[in-house]
Amino acid sequence: MSRATLALLFLMCATARYVDADEASLTSAQEHGRKLFHSTCVYCHGERVWGTFALAQRLGPNRALLEKRNDLVADYVRSVIRAGVGGMPSYRRTELSDADADAIVSYLTRLNPRK
Ligand code: HEC
Repeated sequence: MSRATLALLFLMCATARYVDADEASLTSAQEHGRKLFHSTCVYCHGERVWGTFALAQRLGPNRALLEKRNDLVADYVRSVIRAGVGGMPSYRRTELSDADADAIVSYLTRLNPRK
């Protein structure tokens, strides 16, 4: 593969974003959380990867993809991030600050009308 092709592929990956109907209305904290979720969590919680499969097994297919959930509650997500659950690792404050964890929490709970 030539360098130009590689550069083009890189640019396409860097600029391609998954655009969702609700994305237009993200607050800046939620937008920050979305970016962090994609850099930190999505390799296990994206489509067809391990965390998503594990959740599909335990909770059913409709609750497998965290980004689509409308039943996630802030305290629960925060405690899963800090304590881990099942095969999911825990994140220390030195790895993910409270502010960053809160941003992820605000992103993942955005669809829950009751929070
Ligand atoms: C190394 C893979 C991995 C990474 C990285 C990961 N998770 Fe998980 N996560 C899992 C697995 C596997 C489960 C399911 C555990 C189980 O049910 O036994 C899970 C479960 C969860 C749950 C529980 C959902 C529920 O309804 O019970 C939440 C919330 C969660 N993860 C959030 C996150 C967030 C936020 C991040 C990034 C900060 C993250 N995860 C990073 C593997 C991962």
